[in-house]
Amino acid sequence: EEARRIKISEDKTLPTAKVIKIKDSTEHRERRVKIQGWVHHLRREGKKLLFIQLRDGTGYLQCVLTNLLSSTYEAITLTTESSVTLFGKVMELPPGSHHKAPGDHELIVDYWELICGAPSGGTYYILDKKSNVDFQLDNRHIVIRGTNTSKNLKAASLVTQLIREHHLDRGYMEVHPPCIVQTKTESSLFDSNKIGSSLFELQYYGKKAYLTQSSQLYLESVIAALGDVFCIQKSFRAGKFRTSYHLSEFTHIEAEFPFITFKNLLEKIEDLVVSVCDRITNPNNPLGQLVFEINPDFRTPRRPFKRMSYTEVIQYLKDNNIKKINGTFYTLEDDIPESAERTMINKINEPILVCRFPKGVKPFYTKKCSDDPQLTESVDLLMPGVGEILGASMRIDNYDELIKAFIEKEIEPSTYYWYSDQRKFGSCAHGGYGLGLERFLMWILNLDQICDACLYPRILDRYKP
Ligand code: 4AD
Repeated sequence: EEARRIKISEDKTLPTAKVIKIKDSTEHRERRVKIQGWVHHLRREGKKLLFIQLRDGTGYLQCVLTNLLSSTYEAITLTTESSVTLFGKVMELPPGSHHKAPGDHELIVDYWELICGAPSGGTYYILDKKSNVDFQLDNRHIVIRGTNTSKNLKAASLVTQLIREHHLDRGYMEVHPPCIVQTKTESSLFDSNKIGSSLFELQYYGKKAYLTQSSQLYLESVIAALGDVFCIQKSFRAGKFRTSYHLSEFTHIEAEFPFITFKNLLEKIEDLVVSVCDRITNPNNPLGQLVFEINPDFRTPRRPFKRMSYTEVIQYLKDNNIKKINGTFYTLEDDIPESAERTMINKINEPILVCRFPKGVKPFYTKKCSDDPQLTESVDLLMPGVGEILGASMRIDNYDELIKAFIEKEIEPSTYYWYSDQRKFGSCAHGGYGLGLERFLMWILNLDQICDACLYPRILDRYKP
């Protein structure tokens, strides 16, 4: 009751407060500012002192409320996750302050307003690491406000920017292929694991349509118009996996290049990984610091990456006694499952380009090796801790050979007229790659779960929130 009677008001004789974001504190030292954000943490010391750790997405700022400011009804009942407007002077924290990091500031508040409160009890019960995984995923809209998850999301934003920057710096053109597609691509087209139907079906004005599994075929059709091209686009896979590595909807970074050789393609893959990592570790990139906070062991891998042929992988698995579930060894006829690949990559513990897959385990469009038509000019990039993060290949560029490949995989060629036409109108040697952003992030940030690299994960049986 007493607190309800306490009213505070802004002292109009003070300098006008400039609206700033927390990240801009340094430039506004000793100036009066207005900052809006959410109460990340709260600490009360008696009635006369209230510390708010304010969060505005750009950073965190300790804000000090004293005397009347901390005695109002709103101050006494303030909860974490409430939104507030704070006015006051930004001061550099004195040396030796508790928990002080370089460049840390605090806001000495002279007036404040509550914008919207939040339920008492806060969000701790949701953010509690011991709470059930599904409960956490149901409440992901709250979980993303937490320190660790928001860090991962910021890093994801940074890495996406750097990936785009890399492609633009190399002169590749960005395009936006469609997500709704007509071509029924059976499992063998992209899903080399052949786990049932891997396509999501939908109604398109009364007709059947599908969500794209890869923009590759479209990119191939664009090279004759724009040259080297790339896209950052969602891909969808309906495979019935529930693993730490599979999403039903993932962010696919794909690129396609005309007039290249398989050797050029391998170099472009190394260039992509090394250049993005170098951009992260570049001291001029302040956001790179964030990656080190999440994964202190992050390093740019050395070029050239280790290369192994599929045949050598089969031999490695044999030599290391890694067997199929039925107890026998893998042969060239087998599609090595990701789990076996992961055991190998974790033992070898450096990036590996696995090359020359047998034609049976790769999609219809994959070019055969000139020295062995049973093998293909294809490559997967495996990373320690994660496994495959990228798939790439040279594509069949001969029209008759492509039509034969369609028929071999029992695909009706007529729906692909626009794809085959490419081989009629000035065909050329070409190839490209597809990198899974979330898997790349798992490796960069050393995450165990792909869901941690994703804003709102779509996984088996889950499409909320
Ligand atoms: O190996 P994939 O299936 O290759 C393609 O789709 C080619 N058409 C790409 C191209 O050449 N343009 O997929 C490429 C990458 C994988 O290495 C993996 O990183 C990611 O996409 N990926 C997935 N990520 C998360 N969840 C899934 N279910 C994924 N399926 C593929």
